[in-house]
Amino acid sequence: MSSIPNHIAIIMDGNGRWAQARGYPRFFGHVRGSSRVRPIVEEARTLGVKALTLYAFSTENWKRPEEELTVLWKLLRKYIHREVKDLKKNGVRLHVIGEIERLPEGARKELEAAVEELKDGKELQLTFALSYGARAEILNAVKVVAKKYAQCDLKMTEITEENFEKHLATAYLGEFSDVDLLIRTSGEKRLSNYLLWQCSYAEFEFTDTLWPDYSVEQFRQSLENFKQRKRRFGGI
Ligand code: IPE
Ligand code: IPE
Ligand code: MG
Repeated sequence: MSSIPNHIAIIMDGNGRWAQARGYPRFFGHVRGSSRVRPIVEEARTLGVKALTLYAFSTENWKRPEEELTVLWKLLRKYIHREVKDLKKNGVRLHVIGEIERLPEGARKELEAAVEELKDGKELQLTFALSYGARAEILNAVKVVAKKYAQCDLKMTEITEENFEKHLATAYLGEFSDVDLLIRTSGEKRLSNYLLWQCSYAEFEFTDTLWPDYSVEQFRQSLENFKQRKRRFGGI
């Protein structure tokens, strides 16, 4: 049994508060926050984590002011430009989950190109959850299953957890689609519509540190804490 979690999901929260605490506009926190992604991805890969799923933008985040959204898409494009070459060299495969058809065309196209460019990566499955909401994800899966059932492609007895999961956005992760460790920064202790199905038996790590201050050392500490957990999955 490995003491390193196979699948880590992170809710990268607290960018706005980080900036406001310093008297900067909120977007400054996103700039700083986006620069924290690289070291965490690199550390996860080095430690042998199989899947890292990062919550970058929720379906509810569409409520934010237009100026903030513009900055976020710009930063996403910058991240791609800056990182794709090294991600490829390091064998990282990129995936996106969420309603990315809602993203501005430029950002969406560059994202899709990066996914294509990194498709041979075998070391780490890196996923960005963008315009993602777990309820929408589950509902989509329900619709696909209902359609198959209505067309007699699926029997009632075949609607099992195992078969259902194959219709979730994370199906490509196969045996690693369940989250082992969920980390949320910024002191909030909630899931905010993130990976509700996949987190059924996840271990939770909540830290008060705001995402722009979240360090590799803290990440390692979270993994240390994970090692101490006794996961029973309902057994004794
Ligand atoms: C997380 O930081 C990044 C996104 C949701 C895009 P926030 O922007 O939520 O920062 P706070 O929580 O307001 O401080
Ligand atoms: C969750 O953070 C989404 C991301 C970090 C991308 P929010 O800041 O949107 O969540 P709430 O509003 O505090 O629940
Ligand atoms: Mg927040």
